[in-house]
Amino acid sequence: MVVAVERGEGVAIVRIDNPPVNATSHAVREGLMAAVRAVEAEGVHAAILVCAGRTFVAGGDIAEFDRPPEPPLLPDLCDAIEASPVPWCAAMHGTVLGGGLELALACAWRVAAPGTRFGLPEVRLGLIPGAGGTQRLPRLVGLDRAARMIATGAMVGAAEFLAWGGIDALLDGKPETAARDWLAGRARPQVVSARSVAGADLAALGREVARKAQGEIAPGRALEVVGLAAERPFAEGLRREREVFLELKGGRQSRALRHAFFAERAVARPEAIAGARPRPVETVAIVGGGLMGSGIATACLAAGLSVVLLEREEAAASAASGRVGGLLDAMVGRGKATADDAAAARSRLVVASDYAAAAGADLAIEAVFEDLDVKREVFGRLAAALAPDAILATNTSYLDPARIAAGIAAPERVLGLHFFSPAHVMRLVEVVRPDGVAPEALATGFALARRLGKVPVLAGVCDGFIGNRILTAYRRQADYLLADGCLPHEVDAAMRGFGMPMGPYELQDMTGLGIAYASRRHRAPSRPTGERVVPIADRLYEAGRLGRSAGRGWYRYAEGSRTPERDEDVEAVVRAWSVEEGRARQAFAPDEIVARLLAVMVNEGALIVEEGIAETDAAVDVVEMLGYGFPRWRGGPMHWAEAEGIDRVADAMARVAGQSPGSWVLSRRLRR
Ligand code: COA
Repeated sequence: MVVAVERGEGVAIVRIDNPPVNATSHAVREGLMAAVRAVEAEGVHAAILVCAGRTFVAGGDIAEFDRPPEPPLLPDLCDAIEASPVPWCAAMHGTVLGGGLELALACAWRVAAPGTRFGLPEVRLGLIPGAGGTQRLPRLVGLDRAARMIATGAMVGAAEFLAWGGIDALLDGKPETAARDWLAGRARPQVVSARSVAGADLAALGREVARKAQGEIAPGRALEVVGLAAERPFAEGLRREREVFLELKGGRQSRALRHAFFAERAVARPEAIAGARPRPVETVAIVGGGLMGSGIATACLAAGLSVVLLEREEAAASAASGRVGGLLDAMVGRGKATADDAAAARSRLVVASDYAAAAGADLAIEAVFEDLDVKREVFGRLAAALAPDAILATNTSYLDPARIAAGIAAPERVLGLHFFSPAHVMRLVEVVRPDGVAPEALATGFALARRLGKVPVLAGVCDGFIGNRILTAYRRQADYLLADGCLPHEVDAAMRGFGMPMGPYELQDMTGLGIAYASRRHRAPSRPTGERVVPIADRLYEAGRLGRSAGRGWYRYAEGSRTPERDEDVEAVVRAWSVEEGRARQAFAPDEIVARLLAVMVNEGALIVEEGIAETDAAVDVVEMLGYGFPRWRGGPMHWAEAEGIDRVADAMARVAGQSPGSWVLSRRLRR
């Protein structure tokens, strides 16, 4: 029974038990509707709604959203609860989200255990609340607070929600007993939908939402509908809410965001580690205290692990310690940790130059300079200092971990853990699987990444693994577009128009042209003969245009400014190359720029799946969304291609290949 009704001491306890998160699936809605009637027949003076397991209802069942809604619908259920002659009380714990909060808003009272959190996160799925949330929440907590919660999807803690009037009481103890005691003798308050709400000026929030949206539509629509709460009768607001909800649910953006939700969870459980048990990890050794190493150390410390950070000599070690301290302080500044958490984290950090300090580590992550010999030496020293079965990971972004580990004992404990910079912020980790690695070692890498709050994606060994391999292809095609007629600002604007936070050239300026330069040099010896080479980027780098920090890269920057300005010198280099290559420069519309760059990303992603480097399309999508700023509301390149129509993408890839013959391997997926 997903919904059970028990009677006790004048009240009815209505219990939902629908693991994992008590979503309002069809069976739950049916059970609740029957419970409304059953409670009325019982003649009790109140019904207390509780949930079994780890949380109160955490929302609608997202897995049902692809199908037409089946009655009883949640809005009707909320109306039935609100209108019932028996008053209901929601007694909550865990994360009360979406439809869960909407059920609670329809109840006469709301009480919760300390630590409960509340939210209407529908915009994160490209939706707005669809069961009265946009009209009832403002009537309960005020228009401006409700508007912010609904337009951003942010959760609010119990104490704050209590202060706003969102809940009536915070109660310790078993929710149903605490609620029953608290209810004794209480008069039924006015139903929420009948309350009035004052207007508020939402213009500033509207501007903030518009600025962050970058093409995403749900937050703006949410604001528009919430605003009705103060302007129109409840029933009219509810009708409009339902219309917009259904329109968004059937749209591309919500489909993409739902795909992203499930993809992120699915990739964390790849076939390759099915049944493998992760080893316990409490102490992590990290070699290299640069930007990457200190970011990884910070992530580990913030997750409660102990860290031994190894540097070459004392001065470097103390600089690394300062960097980690600074990152922890910044987390406190951003409200991501308390000062006490940060102090405790710092006390778990040991910084040393002698590998003996890391002897007790369960796992090591090497994050030194990207050079095979340097990394080999580090691995040799780790193997000598740590336990013979300690797991050894490399943060390399393109080398084969097996080559780095060649010669050490028990190589089956070696894997890649490719973090993204800044590593304490970015949620992606590519877990790289060299030949012969033990499933247990991989499973340990996955468990560690999840403990750090990150999303691990399994990647086979190839140049650049999943993400950087796609990035290399994307940049190569962008350079072909330059040679054939585009200018950097046109390519960047087109990709921003698609929803990328930055175009490829602004991004290179931000990270520096040196990394891409080194990567091209590394790739040059294995470059297929006949592949078109466009040396514009090399020429800029060699002319000292190193990127934004140097004041000039693909653009020029005024002293101390981050704003890219077009630079005629760069454009002259671009045009000169077209002449040298003998190409007539042609115009490309923004749509065509996007079509070609996306086709290349999809083609490379498809090759990666066909070669078994990624297990699924979803893995490619998650890497692009979490590691490279691919707009989440487009669902990643592979999902986008399906939604766009694979034939259209194949057509675009044919134009790409036709323009640069001999330069692209076509995936089976896009071959005509
Ligand atoms: N519908 C269907 N399945 C859901 C779900 C929902 N609303 N919310 C969570 N799940 C599933 C997850 O897919 C996952 O399934 P899996 O174990 O098969 O992968 C499982 O519940 C646990 O979720 P997970 O996110 O891994 O657990 P968590 O403890 O980290 O987070 C929540 C729990 C509820 C905070 C989080 O799942 C969440 O934010 N869910 C979405 C809530 C939402 O958007 N509700 C509004 C819907 S309109």
